[in-house]
Amino acid sequence: MNGLSDFKKMEREGWANPAIAKGYADGFHQATRLVAQRLSDAVSAGPKSTVLDLCTGHGVVAAELSARGASVTGLDFSGVMISLAQSAVPDASFIQGDAMSMDFADSSFDAVTIGFGVPHFPDPGRGLAEAARVLRPGGRIAFSIWKGKGSDGAFGWLFDAVGRLGDPSVELPLGPDAHMLADRSSAEPMVTQAGFAEFQLFDVPSELHVQHPEDLFDAFDQGAVRAASLLRSQPAMKRDSIRSDLAERTRSLGNMHNGGFLVPAPSVIISAVRR
Ligand SMILES: C[S@@+](CC[C@H](N)C(=O)[O-])C[C@H]1O[C@@H](n2cnc3c(N)ncnc32)[C@H](O)[C@@H]1O
Repeated sequence: MNGLSDFKKMEREGWANPAIAKGYADGFHQATRLVAQRLSDAVSAGPKSTVLDLCTGHGVVAAELSARGASVTGLDFSGVMISLAQSAVPDASFIQGDAMSMDFADSSFDAVTIGFGVPHFPDPGRGLAEAARVLRPGGRIAFSIWKGKGSDGAFGWLFDAVGRLGDPSVELPLGPDAHMLADRSSAEPMVTQAGFAEFQLFDVPSELHVQHPEDLFDAFDQGAVRAASLLRSQPAMKRDSIRSDLAERTRSLGNMHNGGFLVPAPSVIISAVRR
């Protein structure tokens, strides 16, 4: 097996795991709901639009699009995620499938949204080109990416803690950098090459809600795939140190909300028009 097929296997098996799907839906819901609103704004979702929501997960973006009256089709390769989405958004249609190669005819949709899905593609450029194929010319795509290393928030803190306190010999299956598209210089050429024009990238300050400071570690450990794999491969003592470090940073925010804490989770949205 080469690195990329290991990566594909890790992604498919991870998201098919009911505990991870539920962990993601619970742990990241507040942050992703805020971003879903901005994604729906970015594609001007409304009663006359047909929108394809790729990597729909538990349906957080589909719910927002549907609330605005759009006719929504959600697609995800995880059957567990599709079941969660179907119960959450009964008005939308959901299909189990791979966003890298879809059965839809060319130019089938007015808009495509992808909430935090592109970095899970083994080849993000090819995934975006497939999204362009099913989008009508002039239709809009919008997708979100978490800011990673060096950012002041959940993912930046995680990579900082793993870098300082983790086992440096732990390696993940080779795969595309999960956060590179948060950077305009990486995103713009890839999006343009995939068949889009009118590239825009803007910051979206979002927040994760955690009940207890230790829950930030758990959100990654129990509700993610790549980050969870990085944490689960750490020796027990190093995991404990990373957990304490994230808890300490969360505690130091002191911004209590509904009896818990709001942790910054900065992301970007990229939007563009199908040429
Ligand atoms: C991080 S979750 C995002 C869920 C939701 N869109 C959101 O904004 O919170 C990523 C989702 O992408 C799905 N996924 C990853 N790669 C995929 C692919 N190649 N085709 C279809 N779904 C994929 C996973 O099963 C998972 O549900």
